[in-house]
Amino acid sequence: MKDFIELKDFTADQLAGLMERAIADKQLYREGKLSPTLARKCLAMIFEKPSLRTRVSFESAMVHLGGHGLYLTQADIGLGTREAVQDVARVLGRLCDGIMARTFSHDMVRQLGEHSPAPVINALTDYSHPCQAMADLMTAQEHFGELEGRSLAFIGDGNNVARSLAVACAKFGMQFVLASPAQFRLEQAFEDSMASYAYRWTESPADAVADADIVYTDTWVSMGQEDEKQSRRQTFAGYQINAELMSAAPAHAVVMHCLPAYRGYEITDDVFEAHAETIMEEAENRLHFQRTLLNALIGEGGIA
Ligand code: CP
Ligand code: NVA
Repeated sequence: MKDFIELKDFTADQLAGLMERAIADKQLYREGKLSPTLARKCLAMIFEKPSLRTRVSFESAMVHLGGHGLYLTQADIGLGTREAVQDVARVLGRLCDGIMARTFSHDMVRQLGEHSPAPVINALTDYSHPCQAMADLMTAQEHFGELEGRSLAFIGDGNNVARSLAVACAKFGMQFVLASPAQFRLEQAFEDSMASYAYRWTESPADAVADADIVYTDTWVSMGQEDEKQSRRQTFAGYQINAELMSAAPAHAVVMHCLPAYRGYEITDDVFEAHAETIMEEAENRLHFQRTLLNALIGEGGIA
């Protein structure tokens, strides 16, 4: 597999293998023993949306491996406006050794993958955020020691992060529960695709967290939805992760957040701080997972 666009494109064994290597590579990094396997390689990093973690983790990962990350905003390249997506893909795929893209349209990343001779990585679209979900489950694997049979409750908006986590949980033998207002559950076609897995939707956050090992949330207002901020904040008001909701969860449950967090909205300051160690480990694991991913895609020519 040349690209990393959707988790469903990979087998459970492929994803588990990547995660195992990422955990081992994290240790090598800490010991200062990583090899410069991507020396003289360049990753084009396309951003149509803002980013802290994704940009910095990919750019740092390329430096750790002896290569370079080239930051390209939409204002620089005009993906699909100044130049057709397939032409950008073909040119960047010749000038660089890999392309990482954060776009609004999911189809745009698919088109990049279709036309670029170099590997393409989905760094978040309106539809999904697979690198995030892998770093999150890597964090859970390190915390609990195993993933199979664990349960993740996602509280809030049925969004890109929720979708990728649902697929990741299915791949790792975990249960996934989304608690959201009815109009913000994941679309029917997606729910149908999850029918043979331990996937569940509920309107009740307390119901969702009752058996949860991981209580997860993300912003109620994703990038591109800023015009809906006020109405979303009203609709999701009952979906906050706070001390009261956490009292309905098992005592051992950890809280995760992909960040950026909007304290006082989807999560209270006290719950965030009580679980900050786990949340920051998630953020750090973006670096470790993606560095392993870059090695597999660029250094080794694909995910075995
Ligand atoms: N979680 C995440 O993708 O963060 P950024 O938007 O800052 O990259
Ligand atoms: N759902 C959020 C995730 C941010 C990392 C967004 O798309 O803005």
